[in-house]
Amino acid sequence: MMTYTPAEDRYSKMKYAYCGKSGLKLPLISLGLWHNFGGDTPHELKRELCRAAFDAGITHFDLANNYGPPAGSAETAFGEILRTDFAGYRDELVISSKAGYHMWDGPYGEWGSRKYLISSCDQSLKRMGLDYVDIFYSHRFDPNTPLEETMGALDSIVRAGKALYVGISSYNSADTKRAAAILRDLGTPCIIHQPSYNMINRWVERDGLKETLKEEGIGSIAFTPLAQGMLTNKYLNGTPSDSRATQGKSLNPNMLSDKAIANINKLNDIAGKRGQTLAQMALAWVLRDGGITTALIGASKVSQITDCVGAIDNLEFSKEELAEIDVYANEEDINLWAKSSST
Ligand SMILES: NC(=O)c1ccc[n+]([C@@H]2O[C@H](COP(=O)([O-])OP(=O)(O)OC[C@H]3O[C@@H](n4cnc5c(N)ncnc54)[C@H](OP(=O)(O)O)[C@@H]3O)[C@@H](O)[C@H]2O)c1
Repeated sequence: MMTYTPAEDRYSKMKYAYCGKSGLKLPLISLGLWHNFGGDTPHELKRELCRAAFDAGITHFDLANNYGPPAGSAETAFGEILRTDFAGYRDELVISSKAGYHMWDGPYGEWGSRKYLISSCDQSLKRMGLDYVDIFYSHRFDPNTPLEETMGALDSIVRAGKALYVGISSYNSADTKRAAAILRDLGTPCIIHQPSYNMINRWVERDGLKETLKEEGIGSIAFTPLAQGMLTNKYLNGTPSDSRATQGKSLNPNMLSDKAIANINKLNDIAGKRGQTLAQMALAWVLRDGGITTALIGASKVSQITDCVGAIDNLEFSKEELAEIDVYANEEDINLWAKSSST
């Protein structure tokens, strides 16, 4: 196996921001391993993607118990990369995992019980070969478990040395306030929220979550900032065969409506006028007012990571540009996580 030496200039390429009121800095662009890190992807590609990200100054890698397929295989693959390419670099990395969605059969394999969260965290650590993750999340709000129990489990995980920080994902504004208060009382602050957010999925604005996070001093990491690839040049002129929309996974081709594609073409024109690709503008837009700490992308090719990281070269928007974007940045029915934040 070729030995990997990270790019020496990696930290001069990326920008970093404090995650809320914590002391933890995150890169403005982070890499998620939801897709393209399962058993259906060659290990060599996974290595290339992780190395390209780290070379570009991306220090934050986001996982969850169920990423694959099969569930767990993304963590196993990342564990292998930690033992090979990233050996010796653990302290330069912020690694997160989560529990909330279905992971194993029976009553203890999903949602928000103490029983599930603590055993799932142990399993994730084992798969990755880690003593601790940097951030551990409750992946979704559980309406049937007392929030005190779910937050208590996060606090216990930190006190047991299995995570350094905790966060929540897809919680609405009201539940976020309650969770933050419980965690504050326990002495383990909630430092990060992971919501879906992009130009055509703007629930965090309507729900008041962005304001809540500011008030609570909680940082945020926006997932699907490219709307799973819709906010890139990928689908402007039809659906290419090497795309998520053809894989029968989370990007249902019905989401690529004529109206959505027409608007995305208009957004692409605006990006062109800014001297950016559409992906770069979509990421800059998510980060535009400092309300979001980092944009959490996925990638199936190294060139996509390079393109996305280029977003940080132009993060400024004029009022006129934002107004023009608003004309075409219409909500589409693409928020697969709406149910979690609606309770
Ligand atoms: N907390 C939660 O519940 C939750 C839910 C979902 C995701 N997440 C996190 O968010 C991460 C990102 O999600 P996502 O992968 O859906 O995000 P995304 O960045 O919106 O979409 C990534 C996809 O867009 C395409 N793409 C990326 N960069 C491109 C570029 N420069 N040009 C053209 N196409 C480009 C690729 O599609 P192709 O594969 O078609 O090439 C890539 O797989 C996940 O890995 C996970 O960590 C969290």
